[in-house]
Amino acid sequence: PRYFALIPAAGVGARMAASGPKQYLKIGGKPMMRHAIDAFLFSELIAHTYVVVSADDPVIDSVVPSHGVTVLRCGGATRMESVRNGLAALAPTLRENDWVLVHDAARPGLDEALIEKLITGTGEHAVGGLLALPVVDTVKRSLGGELGTVSREGLWLAQTPQMFRYRLLRDALAAVRDPSQVTDDASAVEALGLAPKLVEGHPRNLKVTLPQDVRIAEMYLATTQP
Ligand code: C5P
Repeated sequence: PRYFALIPAAGVGARMAASGPKQYLKIGGKPMMRHAIDAFLFSELIAHTYVVVSADDPVIDSVVPSHGVTVLRCGGATRMESVRNGLAALAPTLRENDWVLVHDAARPGLDEALIEKLITGTGEHAVGGLLALPVVDTVKRSLGGELGTVSREGLWLAQTPQMFRYRLLRDALAAVRDPSQVTDDASAVEALGLAPKLVEGHPRNLKVTLPQDVRIAEMYLATTQP
């Protein structure tokens, strides 16, 4: 089988309150998205890496290495649309049965070991798989004045990469009615009644969302696994 990486990197990172898009913030001396790009480049399992940015992105060319990565300037208004547009742009290149690993540009802690763990753990699963972490905290739901405790049994936090066969992911995203409800790729696949496999990830693969996440990410980047 062939494995490809697709990195949606067309967000604006509003919650980061930084001066530019967060995927370009320097983390450990490198633009944030470069960490994930390098992890895929170093992984011998990945045939090629694609990055989706917005059409008017002014800096991407100075951030990607000259080999092994292709920039797709077709970002959309939501993460889901960026992934969907990226997959559409790859139609001439990918085969229906190729695996696509979709990974957030904002998760700099990805490394080759996690990529390999996901691919090995998913194997030839009929649906696909994703990295995720079991929930360790007690979970509360507060909605419309009601407060309740949700049992954490069986609850996982989804990470990326999330890997699916090209055809399935394309069709699942095409079938989505409300893009605002689809914050990862697996949920679009689940909406078809399918169950992707959960492969245990690692806290170092956190998504940098809030300003304080930068230091946590840098702490993990300064250490290697476990
Ligand atoms: O905003 P959030 O952290 O959930 O974004 C997750 C990933 O999706 C980031 O890598 C971001 O750049 C990407 N994204 C995108 N297009 C958008 C919004 C987010 O590629 N319109």
